[in-house]
Amino acid sequence: MSITQPVKGKTAIVTGAGSGINLAFATLLLANGCNVLIADLALRPEARVVVDKYSSRSGSARAVFQKTNVTDWAQLEQMFAVAEREFGEIDIVCPGAGVYEEHWSNFWRPPGSPESRDTPLGGRYALLDINLTHPIRVTQLAISHFLRHRKSSSRKHIIHISSIAGQNPALAAPIYVATKHGISGLVRSLGKLDGQFGIRVTAVAPGVIKTPLWTEHPEKLKMIKEGQDEWVTAEEVGEVMLALIQQDEVNEVIGDHGGQGPLFPVQGGTILEVSKTVRVVNAFNDPGPAGRAGNTVTDMKAVENEIYSLLSGDGWGKAKL
Ligand SMILES: NC(=O)c1ccc[n+]([C@@H]2O[C@H](COP(=O)([O-])OP(=O)(O)OC[C@H]3O[C@@H](n4cnc5c(N)ncnc54)[C@H](O)[C@@H]3O)[C@@H](O)[C@H]2O)c1
Ligand SMILES: *[C@@H]1O[C@H](CO)[C@@H](O)[C@H](O)[C@H]1NC(C)=O
Ligand SMILES: *[C@@H]1O[C@H](CO)[C@@H](O)[C@H](O)[C@H]1NC(C)=O
Repeated sequence: MSITQPVKGKTAIVTGAGSGINLAFATLLLANGCNVLIADLALRPEARVVVDKYSSRSGSARAVFQKTNVTDWAQLEQMFAVAEREFGEIDIVCPGAGVYEEHWSNFWRPPGSPESRDTPLGGRYALLDINLTHPIRVTQLAISHFLRHRKSSSRKHIIHISSIAGQNPALAAPIYVATKHGISGLVRSLGKLDGQFGIRVTAVAPGVIKTPLWTEHPEKLKMIKEGQDEWVTAEEVGEVMLALIQQDEVNEVIGDHGGQGPLFPVQGGTILEVSKTVRVVNAFNDPGPAGRAGNTVTDMKAVENEIYSLLSGDGWGKAKL
């Protein structure tokens, strides 16, 4: 696999890189000589180690943490300003921060219900603010930045994190599914910017990835059957994200089996599913993620039954105004 556009000497902004998949991606960028501005609410201990390791101005690449709440647009502007001040030209932007279908902003616990933090007359869902509005806004800011501040002719990248939920329905997480379908539609719609302006918008669509998003949420973990469902690692997803940026073609297989299988061209709008294998997700007539190792969640029933009992209670969704 030939690396046509090394990230060495470039600069990236990665939101949500205080943990999980985005941290794995940021770590790989740094190891390959790319500066990274990490924008998150906080750093988990493992992320703190990475930032400390790459704090020196004399090293090959540097990491800077900028405390950022991605639902606050002023803080998103600030994130770009800080990256530019610290590093100069920005080349890669990844709006990866997100939360799962938390009980505080959840389709089955509508605004006004006891666990929800969304209010009946509030006009917004926190989940959409974090998982859909933030990637859309960051994409606009990145395009604007790229158009105004371009000093080199090298390609610019905006890389999103969709999900197999960008294709799979899930009764347990309707808003999550809506946001990931939304991300995939956004990415495909911006595909032509690659040819026109050298701005390549792509996405990964991870399967079931072992990150704190699962491991620290027993209410979600009960959907996973150990031994039957397979985990994919955050590092494996990070590798594919790096390949989407550095390469013009990507292999079908990752991890231990790397280097075989057909090559897929990478271009604006490309979405790569990452489970135990990698494949291009096509807009039409796609076979979908079903049946591939690393894509299965066997015990959905456990959560579905919880939802049916919520709906069978008295006055579901009838909020006190
Ligand atoms: N884990 C999976 O199985 C899986 C599968 C498919 C897609 N994804 C996607 O991958 C992405 C990363 O997920 P992860 O599994 O690494 O989760 P994670 O919980 O490990 O990391 C998410 C990060 O986002 C940050 N964040 C949340 N709200 C924020 C806010 N308001 N402002 C700033 N930062 C905020 C968190 O602090 C956290 O560091 C998400 O978009 C997720 O939907 C995950
Ligand atoms: C992020 O900002 C939103 C609104 O701007 C606020 O409601 C929310 O509490 C903030 N989140 C955190 C973790 O500070
Ligand atoms: C929100 O984004 C996070 C991180 O990208 C992802 O893991 C999660 O599934 C998303 N949740 C929703 C409800 O979109």
